[in-house]
Amino acid sequence: MKKKIGFAAALVLVGLAILSTRFYEVDLPVWHFLGGGKGPDPATLHLRGEFVESNLGTAGDPPGSLTVRMIAQQYDFVPQCVVVPAGVPVRFRITSADAVHLLSFLGTNNGLKVLPGVVTEATFTFAKPGEFKIPCHEFCGPGHYAMRGQLDVVAQSQFSPLSPGERRTCEP
Ligand code: CUA
Repeated sequence: MKKKIGFAAALVLVGLAILSTRFYEVDLPVWHFLGGGKGPDPATLHLRGEFVESNLGTAGDPPGSLTVRMIAQQYDFVPQCVVVPAGVPVRFRITSADAVHLLSFLGTNNGLKVLPGVVTEATFTFAKPGEFKIPCHEFCGPGHYAMRGQLDVVAQSQFSPLSPGERRTCEP
């Protein structure tokens, strides 16, 4: 009898785990695809809206603040490398062009789940300059293990102010 109760409890736990995973992997994206969200359409990211290529990278908007816009896709990041100053809050706005990806900034505890049709937003302050790899930590297909971007955190003195409309990446 005890064994049976243990087995049932294990089943419930497994069921809960599947349900909670399913919510993020299946239900949430489906809900957004069906129009439940106002997020960007993964199929037209590069054609219109906030995530067109010319709008990606680090921007000084609204004035006096910093926003980094990125796309995660199988199996890279656009832009591949972003640059931000140390010691100031940086707002990240990231979406996926396809699968679910999980960005983790190595050397920090910051991780971001990115889904198609949804804009994931988070604000981080990176204390010290450094180069951080951004590996994908969510299995997203055969190229998953090679999927990585880069975040360059530079001293504030090395980060010249962004002019309106300017978008900056690691490339000069
Ligand atoms: Cu993207 Cu794994």
